[in-house]
Amino acid sequence: MSATVPSLLQRALDTALDRSLVLGYTRIGPAVRRRWWAPDAEPGSLAGRHVVVTGATSGIGTAMVESFLDLGATVHVLGRNAAKVTDLVADLRRRRPTAELVEEVCDVGDLDAVRAWTDDLAARIEDLHAIVHNAGVMLPERTESPQGHEMALAVHVLGPHLMTERLLPLLGAGGGGTVVIMSSGGMYSAGLRSTPDEIEYRDGEYDGVRGYARTKRMQVVLADAWSRRLRGGEVAVESTHPGWAATPGVSDSLPGFDKVMGPLLRTPASGADTAVWLVATRPDSSGTHHFWHDRATRPTTYPFQRRQEPGAERAFLDYVAGATDSVWPH
Ligand SMILES: NC(=O)c1ccc[n+]([C@@H]2O[C@H](COP(=O)([O-])OP(=O)(O)OC[C@H]3O[C@@H](n4cnc5c(N)ncnc54)[C@H](OP(=O)(O)O)[C@@H]3O)[C@@H](O)[C@H]2O)c1
Repeated sequence: MSATVPSLLQRALDTALDRSLVLGYTRIGPAVRRRWWAPDAEPGSLAGRHVVVTGATSGIGTAMVESFLDLGATVHVLGRNAAKVTDLVADLRRRRPTAELVEEVCDVGDLDAVRAWTDDLAARIEDLHAIVHNAGVMLPERTESPQGHEMALAVHVLGPHLMTERLLPLLGAGGGGTVVIMSSGGMYSAGLRSTPDEIEYRDGEYDGVRGYARTKRMQVVLADAWSRRLRGGEVAVESTHPGWAATPGVSDSLPGFDKVMGPLLRTPASGADTAVWLVATRPDSSGTHHFWHDRATRPTTYPFQRRQEPGAERAFLDYVAGATDSVWPH
């Protein structure tokens, strides 16, 4: 699919929107950028393709399921709560009688559950076109996963890493698989943590917003590392952030923010747009930038931010590999 090429002025405006946060991240961002951003995917472009959406039972995930259905995909609706998954799929089937939907139950933060679910999926389908790691949490206090990992780390980083590792054979099978990790613009406020105590947030009093931002930064680093590892192969790995969208997650975890920004927040579908577009169009991702927002790559670090310490990325990736019993070739 050919992309429209934005003019210099449009690029400058796009960058200004991005740096201003309030303009770019809210509904104003896509309202302006829509004038020049890359075209939508062709209708039916995902017909016959299997796509997994994690965290599908709320907000951006539910909107993403609908957008993938619009493009003809068979959507695997993955949630941790079986009743919620069943209710959502029943509702979708009522409204869209021909929709191809598969119910999937897995707690992404539980590594044993991830192993069991990936084995189960591999026994049911022959190829997987894409997975969007969208499940997310912002927790008021430090809690631990069944394997004893800090929960935001388990849900945002360890579970998605292990899922990706175990689904690789399925993702490459049909040619042109895509993995998308849903990060957050909040990651700009955190540097990469690399000691075990920092990664597991045992290095000070727990702050949910900070724990969220740290693990969202880790997601971006992880996606870049996966992308380098798989360069030139069948599977592309990208990360993205949705801007600020009105979802139950935002109103529950950040009620003050929700109140102030309410009218300016994007719709969940707008928050889902870039992830869906990445899967459906597979834009050229041969460069080193794999962090997307509103259908364009964005910097992962700004010049005013502290440089990452040498060796931090390697130490982080080694920790992730060790925690998930997987291998990370450097
Ligand atoms: N909304 C925004 O403005 C915004 C901004 C930046 C980034 N994001 C990111 O976008 C993604 C979606 O956010 P949202 O606003 O739509 O949040 P949301 O309304 O809270 O939805 C989060 C979803 O993740 C699921 N989930 C949480 N833990 C899980 C686990 N262990 N296993 C499986 N599923 C799990 C939740 O399941 P339950 O339904 O069972 O709770 C829910 O379906 C998140 O990764 C978030 O960090 C959102």
